[in-house]
Amino acid sequence: MIGGLGVDKINWFDGVATLGYWLGEAHWRKGHMTEAASAALRFAFKELNLNRINVKAAVENTASNATIRKLGFVFEGVQRQNYRARATGKLHDANSYGLLKEDWNKMQEK
Ligand SMILES: CC(C)(COP(=O)(O)OP(=O)(O)OC[C@H]1O[C@@H](n2cnc3c(N)ncnc32)[C@H](O)[C@@H]1OP(=O)(O)O)[C@@H](O)C(=O)NCCC(=O)NCCS
Repeated sequence: MIGGLGVDKINWFDGVATLGYWLGEAHWRKGHMTEAASAALRFAFKELNLNRINVKAAVENTASNATIRKLGFVFEGVQRQNYRARATGKLHDANSYGLLKEDWNKMQEK
């Protein structure tokens, strides 16, 4: 096992869920998370028939923010002091993103 990914906090009435992931450092920057998250988004929109996926990343997490944007998520604002780092106990701001099924469908046509 080199990492994990989940589509959770599913609200079936609203059709909304949250994407989360991590990858072991030895496996970074090889396209794994783009590939895995793309498959998870396909599953969420096509099989689960969800309408919106939320994701967030600490403002200073360059890799995660870049991965999220590469997947087509739209930046929707900053959630202040939304994370507490386990290692330091310090609070961090988080960038908040969303991807709609209609956005995803358009991306598949390209
Ligand atoms: C964020 C994370 C999952 C990215 O996974 P990954 O498999 O390395 O990402 P990918 O290789 O698919 O990269 C996707 C894009 O992100 C960007 N990127 C990835 N790592 C980067 C880095 N270290 N610095 C700058 N950009 C980076 C690149 O633009 C890349 O696209 P490109 O290769 O076409 O240029 C991984 O770095 C990780 O697990 N980090 C630690 C835990 C974490 O941050 N989890 C997410 C919490 S929100």
